[in-house]
Amino acid sequence: MSSTLIVNARLVNEGREFEGDLRIEHGRIARIGTGLQAHTHETVVDANGRRLLPGMIDDQVHFREPGMEYKADIATESAAAVAGGLTTFMDMPNTSPPTLNAEALEDKYRRAHGRAWGNYGFYMGASNDNLEAIQRLNPRSAPGIKVFMGASTGNMLVDNPETLDAIFRDAPTPIITHCEDTPMIDAELARYKAKYGDDIPVSCHPDIRSREACKKSTELAISLARRHDTRLHVLHISTADELALFQPGPIEGKRITAETCVHFLRFDRADYERLGNRIKCNPAIKDAADREALIAALANDVIDVLATDHAPHTIEEKAKPYLSAPSGLPLVQYALLAALELVHEGKLTTAQVVQKFAHAPARLFDVRNRGFLREGYAADLVLIDDAPLTVHADDVLSKCGWSPFEGTTFHSRVASTWVNGVLAWDGRQLVGDAMGQRLEFDR
Ligand code: DOR
Repeated sequence: MSSTLIVNARLVNEGREFEGDLRIEHGRIARIGTGLQAHTHETVVDANGRRLLPGMIDDQVHFREPGMEYKADIATESAAAVAGGLTTFMDMPNTSPPTLNAEALEDKYRRAHGRAWGNYGFYMGASNDNLEAIQRLNPRSAPGIKVFMGASTGNMLVDNPETLDAIFRDAPTPIITHCEDTPMIDAELARYKAKYGDDIPVSCHPDIRSREACKKSTELAISLARRHDTRLHVLHISTADELALFQPGPIEGKRITAETCVHFLRFDRADYERLGNRIKCNPAIKDAADREALIAALANDVIDVLATDHAPHTIEEKAKPYLSAPSGLPLVQYALLAALELVHEGKLTTAQVVQKFAHAPARLFDVRNRGFLREGYAADLVLIDDAPLTVHADDVLSKCGWSPFEGTTFHSRVASTWVNGVLAWDGRQLVGDAMGQRLEFDR
């Protein structure tokens, strides 16, 4: 494998931004320094002062394979992710069939081999009746176990209290939860149906899938985790109300962590009028005050991880009325650029984005040798160019072919993405082959 020298970069890593050069050799970061001299036959990239970041690690995507390949598949969605600077993804178990045993899990790894543009991990799912498979799970075979403590896309609700308790007691990996209280949501939905019949406006979504439903379920997850000292990661926090349930501070040493998602930081209730079901998702996008509180919670380390919850559906499905339109939106391609808008607005630093979107998921899931600009680590890298980019549907690489950001102009774009030391995105197109590797977990 040839070597590449990136010179004159502004490296962003572990809380620091500094000028430097970085050499890639044999798929790894061989050197970080200043004034590095090119070897003969080495490819030299002049970064011209642009920001060079570790590739982002997205700990929450739905790539739909197997079973819903008409919406998305591992090849198309990982290509979109790499184009957006996301070099690693961890994929959810609500596929068809769902990932409820070791065989289904290994089937996903086989599917990803040779087709995933980014590095990959697959979660094991929980159900009301797969406790034995969870207890027997090899902790090095999955980043974690996903528990739907609220019903969403797919039929994976775990609502048997004894089962939930046993899963929190026995899980051999971190547990990640979707927290929304289903009985509360069902009761609100019935009230809205009584009022509107089948014509419920999508702007009611955050009232039906309410902040109270989020809080109640998150409280339950945290109380179970405290009882059993479980390593718990609560996904997609969407309300200001839940923030008081989490401790501020660095992720190291925390047993209970929180994640929020890019769409909660860029959209709010006012956007339902313009975007309708396109931004219908679970949990729901809530108020502008929630959005600002979530951004502040990232900045002050109450929320530990930023992710996407990339959940593509076809535009035809999204065009259905509120009650039948599925929840979820495609995000991987523009998520990093959307997060960097918060830097442009002075609400976060680039180092904080890197912390939440690369370092933190690597630490939380014990990912081996990724997520940092460190010598010896995998050369998963993204170079950011501060030239504006306007999102057009024609440029969307996700199979569904649309983006909630269509028409948005970002201040930055992804100039290059390297995966395992190989250029995968050159700023205009994918290049080479799908070079993603199976994640290894140091546990
Ligand atoms: O909006 C959502 N979509 N939330 C989920 O929990 C699942 C996801 C999907 O798979 O479509």
